[in-house]
Amino acid sequence: MQELLFVSEKAIFAPPKAIRGGVPLCFPQFGMMGPMPSQHGFARNVAFSVVEQEPWRVKLALEYDGSSQPAFPHPFTLHVIISICDNHLLQELVVLNTGPSPLTFTAALHTYIRVTDIHTAKVRGLSQGRYLDNLAALQQSTQEEEELGFSGEVDRVYLSTPNTIQVIDPSGKRVVTVSKEGFPDAIVWNPWIAKAASMADFGDEEYKVMLCIEPAVAGSGPVTLEPGAEWQGKQDLAYQSSSA
Ligand code: BG6
Repeated sequence: MQELLFVSEKAIFAPPKAIRGGVPLCFPQFGMMGPMPSQHGFARNVAFSVVEQEPWRVKLALEYDGSSQPAFPHPFTLHVIISICDNHLLQELVVLNTGPSPLTFTAALHTYIRVTDIHTAKVRGLSQGRYLDNLAALQQSTQEEEELGFSGEVDRVYLSTPNTIQVIDPSGKRVVTVSKEGFPDAIVWNPWIAKAASMADFGDEEYKVMLCIEPAVAGSGPVTLEPGAEWQGKQDLAYQSSSA
């Protein structure tokens, strides 16, 4: 059996600390793209309740009444439905505006994909993609390479990407396909050496075995929902072995 998602050996399982690995949920803000003073919102720091549970599917809920976050006083209900089927891990987000005024949010499924060796891993599907470079004050650039490889820190918000992005892991002889719906954008992140060393909940060498591909509502602009309106976004992670 192989692990397909990465969880750091130094991850801290003590709320409100976000877990360094798996799929933290950035909501109601991705990065600093919103009114909150700390990045990635607060959904990843709080406990959800389990509302439905079957062996292959779980439905989680976060009912927010607008009171605990001064910078985000707007109520919402967030449902996350996670299911496993064959070689697929499906995650669905449903946001309901339960407040009396429009709800505006950005979001991401901050998916930590495990790779065998970042030096040989490639990301396919973003060629000619426009991105905001987090390492250059969000300056906009275009990816010229057919496939994105890694030889240093990468932190990019790709805008309006295709809905299928693949992580090719030749050393592990596998391909992980990320298929998204509802999320226009995608983040690609690897902290590399210096940033890895600066994170207390991440091993110094672990940047070699992970890569984040994050379906997002981010640089293309936020979503605004009228009172009572609902938004849905989905991610389907599929695993295939490959000889490449
Ligand atoms: C990514 C961001 O989504 O998350 C990066 O683009 C950030 O800038 C990374 O460093 C990790 O964020 P955090 O808050 O979990 O350390």
